[in-house]
Amino acid sequence: MSEKLNDVRNRVISCVNCSLSKSRKNAVPGIGNEKSDVIFVGEAPGRNEDLQGKPFVGTAGQILSEALEYAGFTRDQVYITNVVKCRPPNNRQPITEERDACRQYLSEELKIIKPRIICILGNTAYSSLLDGSAITKNRGKLVKNNDQLYFVTVHPAAIIYNPGLRQVLKDDFVLLAKTLDKLRKGLDVEISK
Ligand code: URA
Ligand code: SF4
Repeated sequence: MSEKLNDVRNRVISCVNCSLSKSRKNAVPGIGNEKSDVIFVGEAPGRNEDLQGKPFVGTAGQILSEALEYAGFTRDQVYITNVVKCRPPNNRQPITEERDACRQYLSEELKIIKPRIICILGNTAYSSLLDGSAITKNRGKLVKNNDQLYFVTVHPAAIIYNPGLRQVLKDDFVLLAKTLDKLRKGLDVEISK
């Protein structure tokens, strides 16, 4: 791992910038390949992530892995992180103060890795990064904001409550993989307004 990313990681692990530091067991920095041209951004760690200090290792993580593999990605090929790096009590959504306090770390991860595409997983990342809402209506889209491309899709945990979304996530990841392939070849991609 580069010194820069390792430095972010170490600061996350010992961070006390918001009150989630009091209830967490482990802070959860991003993980994966820093040469990846796509970063997946979830909401916040859950119970298993808090225990292990790694993102997406519980049920939602299994669903994420399955969808990634379906589209030809492997987990260690890509970089996976969250908007907020510590688990909110009872898995509630992170509040604005917590998102704001944690934003610097995601910004630094993005600046170091410089992905071609940021893949937004669910409403928390969608609202934090693009001020968006109603993910199920807007998913499957490639959007551009301040010269950065984003691909918007549902959160893997949404599938636990809505099994019909399992194939939706897989198909979205296939579209994401195809889009990345085109970008690598210098071909045009369709950007939603
Ligand atoms: N849900 C998330 O948003 N992130 C994780 O790391 C695990 C579950
Ligand atoms: Fe620090 Fe982010 Fe954890 Fe809050 S959630 S303590 S800002 S790492």
